[in-house]
Amino acid sequence: MKGIILAGGAGTRLYPTTNIISKQLLPIYNKPMIYYPLSTLMLSGIKEILIISTPQDINKFKDLLGNGENFGISLSYDIQEKPNGIAEAISIGEQFIADDDVCLILGDNVFYGKNLPRILKRATDEVKENNFSLIFGYRVKDPERYGVIEFNDNKEVVSIEEKPFEPKSNYAAVGLYFYKNYIVDLIKDLKPSKRGELEITDLNIKVLKNNKLKTEILDSVFWLDTGTHDALVEASNFIKTVENREGKKVSCLEEIAYKYNYINDEQLKKIILKYNNEYGNYLKKIVK
Ligand code: DAU
Repeated sequence: MKGIILAGGAGTRLYPTTNIISKQLLPIYNKPMIYYPLSTLMLSGIKEILIISTPQDINKFKDLLGNGENFGISLSYDIQEKPNGIAEAISIGEQFIADDDVCLILGDNVFYGKNLPRILKRATDEVKENNFSLIFGYRVKDPERYGVIEFNDNKEVVSIEEKPFEPKSNYAAVGLYFYKNYIVDLIKDLKPSKRGELEITDLNIKVLKNNKLKTEILDSVFWLDTGTHDALVEASNFIKTVENREGKKVSCLEEIAYKYNYINDEQLKKIILKYNNEYGNYLKKIVK
């Protein structure tokens, strides 16, 4: 399975903070936001990843993450000319996806939890072995801000609506989508919505109508919002609290790469030399 991180968008909700910098490069506590979705893909066992951003920002992501060799993965980059909608990531990534299945994650989505690696691994395996695509619902108090999933009594998905005025449930569709390769065909006749965007919810409805959408409830991990200034501060505080309490870092890419054997001792030691700070000291402790 391949991975795509969509890290574009206008970022207008966070102006003036995002006037000249992409939202996904802003820090969440002690690392750039994009580290978090990238770690989610790495924890899923995905090693070939495409990062999509705006023409103005794409080079900053390249400068930050390079070709991925520091993390033992392969990173490539592409541009979304205009914020034409989240689902456009699939069209932009068509050649990259080729004959594979694909996991799309939004560059501003942060997941954390002890069970996360297990859930992600299972999701990747299930989609690989079956013909369904998989999305996740997460209980929130303000579902009208998200795509909203309605379930029946058997926990099967009945409907999905994008930012409805009257949500049919409290379950938001998180920005993490495991798709079978047929998604590349389904996107081709997707029409822009009234607001002119290729909506990810419309794409998911298409999969649902083909009886190929499985939805799971994410209830043993945290899904953090980064959509407003308050949400950003709350996410930073959350990561700070977890890291300081447990003495472990959340979404430390080098640590994940090392533990998953994507990089070896020598490679990690080389990386450590770049960090003459607390981050480097942390990495030193994890080398065997
Ligand atoms: O976070 C989960 C939610 O993400 C889902 O529940 C919704 O169904 C989905 O539409 C989306 O809602 P948002 O209101 O968060 O979408 P937003 O326009 O803020 O875009 C999410 C991220 O994707 C953001 O970091 C910018 C990026 N983006 C967005 C669009 C529309 C792009 O890179 N390109 C785009 O064209």
